[in-house]
Amino acid sequence: MNKVVVTGGIGYIGSHTVVSLIEKGITVVIVDNMINSNINTLDGIESITGVRPEFHDIDMTDGTLLHRFFDLHKDADAVIHFAALKAVGDSSQQPILYYRNNLFALINLIEGMQKHEISNLVFSSSATVYGTPDFLPITEDHPTKRGMSPYGNSKKIGEEIIEDTVNSAENFKAISLRYFNPIGAHPSYKIGESPNGVPNNLMPYVTQTAAGVRKELSIFGDDYNTPDGTAIRDYIHIVDLAEAHVKTVERLLEDQQKSNFEIFNLGTGQGKSVLEVIESFERMSGQKLPQKITDRRDGDVEQMYSSTERASNDLGWNSKLGLDEMTSSAWEWEKKNRKI
Ligand code: UD1
Repeated sequence: MNKVVVTGGIGYIGSHTVVSLIEKGITVVIVDNMINSNINTLDGIESITGVRPEFHDIDMTDGTLLHRFFDLHKDADAVIHFAALKAVGDSSQQPILYYRNNLFALINLIEGMQKHEISNLVFSSSATVYGTPDFLPITEDHPTKRGMSPYGNSKKIGEEIIEDTVNSAENFKAISLRYFNPIGAHPSYKIGESPNGVPNNLMPYVTQTAAGVRKELSIFGDDYNTPDGTAIRDYIHIVDLAEAHVKTVERLLEDQQKSNFEIFNLGTGQGKSVLEVIESFERMSGQKLPQKITDRRDGDVEQMYSSTERASNDLGWNSKLGLDEMTSSAWEWEKKNRKI
């Protein structure tokens, strides 16, 4: 049986991926320091899968602790690395905190893997590395740009560190996954997204507004050059995204790669506007969402959506779930989590 270490495994994307891996019969070991996650998520994972994965509370910026961890798990076949800080605005206020956390953790991880001869890495990256797109849909060959925030830049630099490592070591292989906008929750509603503090992202802000935790949703700009004036993104169901990670691990373990460092975009290929997301949410939830139009948010791009060709052809992965399933599951999770 294969064993996969999942860092950040009780976070939003991590926990859904852990469920998909366990359902495939893979043994999962989680490393997480709970800086932006909750230990109760382990109960959710156990309740869905019947398996409580081994859990280690480790701050990965502590290389000694991480090495000790790998001494225990040198038989791991692969690592999926989610653990990172991800608040865009916060990262501009505290760039060094973000670089230290996201890059030291990655460097310690690679050192630990190499020392213990674990040679397969999946990196959790972001479509933010493309910056303002030069063309749409965005293919993996689209140029990457300096990140618009320290968070975004830490993803870009992270990919570069991994690529240099792969180029320097014959037996080290990696796949970087560039996510578009993951939203929604597991259909059991036992795990989902629950950010600390005021959400930065659209979907948790929408569900928290409907739950009465936030007064109203601000729509950041309605004067974009799009059909309804609001910005367009490629929202992808978290369960589809989780499945893509299983395919990625299989690709690494079965040696199917075309090169030792590969990149895949993970999106649906469908651009949806902020107003379309709100319309779907209101229809699926039966809730009228208090909302107002405000100025554009600094650093936002007008339109982003992914080319799905490479993921479909090479990874054999296609998204299945639509926007209505995303908004309704996000709402069901929010209600259940808040006992509404
Ligand atoms: C954001 C980050 C991106 C990061 C991703 C992680 C920025 C500029 N980009 O992507 O780097 O990888 O989150 O999840 O922060 N919106 C509103 N009202 C809100 C919140 C959002 O109108 O209260 C709009 C935004 O203007 C945008 C869309 O909703 O058009 C999606 O926003 P969001 O969920 O924050 O994602 P991104 O900005 O695409």
